[in-house]
Amino acid sequence: MSDRERLLAQVAEAKEASVVARIRDEALEKQKLVPELFASIPGLPPEQRKARGLEANELKRSCEEVLAACKAWFETAALASESSGAGFDATIPGTKPERGSLHPLTRVQRELEDLFTSMGYVVLDGPEVELDWYNFEALNIPRDHPARDMQDTFRCDPQGNVVLRTHTSPGQVRAMERMKPPFRAIVPGKVFRQETTDASHEHTFHQMEGLVVGRDLSVGHLIGTMKTLLRTIFGKELEVRLRPGYFPFVEPGFELDARCPFCTQGCSVCKRSTWVELLPCGMVHPNVLKHGGIDPEVWSGFAFGLGLSRLVMLRYGIDDVRHLLSGDLRFLEQFA
Ligand code: FA5
Repeated sequence: MSDRERLLAQVAEAKEASVVARIRDEALEKQKLVPELFASIPGLPPEQRKARGLEANELKRSCEEVLAACKAWFETAALASESSGAGFDATIPGTKPERGSLHPLTRVQRELEDLFTSMGYVVLDGPEVELDWYNFEALNIPRDHPARDMQDTFRCDPQGNVVLRTHTSPGQVRAMERMKPPFRAIVPGKVFRQETTDASHEHTFHQMEGLVVGRDLSVGHLIGTMKTLLRTIFGKELEVRLRPGYFPFVEPGFELDARCPFCTQGCSVCKRSTWVELLPCGMVHPNVLKHGGIDPEVWSGFAFGLGLSRLVMLRYGIDDVRHLLSGDLRFLEQFA
């Protein structure tokens, strides 16, 4: 009996696809049948080697063909018998694959990116582990300045030269270094503060910085941009108020607050004030322009630091910021 005949006899005995697969493995891969033929070639006189090689290759090819055809036949037959046999019920619902969905933060961030790019802004990224220079010094906050106390900072080295960025404002100076004025940029991202957490304070949250550098910019341009932003986000004129705010990197600086959507008399989100602090902003300080390599005699700028996490809370009626990054599926599935 030739190798081929022996193989075909084995296949003829097989009753299911897995047996054919095993015969194939043993014959072709586990060095039994055809490999023996190949192994015999070096021992032959040179004039016989070519013919034996051809014969071995031909046998291997035909074995593979037969085995593939048999396996396919068994598989089709198994499926047919499964779907027509006892116990098969075509009306039982299938298992639905689980589908993920975008996180509410990602949704709002993308919406804002669309809005700002339509107004000529570019979207920039910045490092979450940041140099003290960009996070503080270049923003007009020297080492011993009391303004550093406003943002309790996670430090990454004993000298304090590297920090987890406490805001997206370092993106201002990085943007100035990368682009020539006039330009408009937003820098969305995650920021970190050593906070005692409560309904409106997380240690890890999201902001979106905005920066416009151009000629003869004024507070009027800033307020107009902020109003467009809020109108687009909330789809209506939202009651807002502007009050003076101190940030060393803007002069003058403002706090833009939105009316709390959760209460009329004060609650834990608005700290009983009925206003939610949302959008600090101001005209870029000349020192910051200088640190970014821009001449403040020629160019001016305005900047804002949108509290993205708080905005998402207002948008979706979320009453505790800590839900956002909790990873709790019961919370996230509500936005699917
Ligand atoms: C800043 O971070 C400044 N960099 C903003 C700025 C940019 C001012 C440009 C001027 C010009 P502030 O610390 O207030 O500012 O934070 C900005 C916003 O982030 C707040 O209005 C608030 O909405 C949000 N925020 C602040 N701390 C938290 C926190 N712990 N959890 C959640 N959101 C917070």
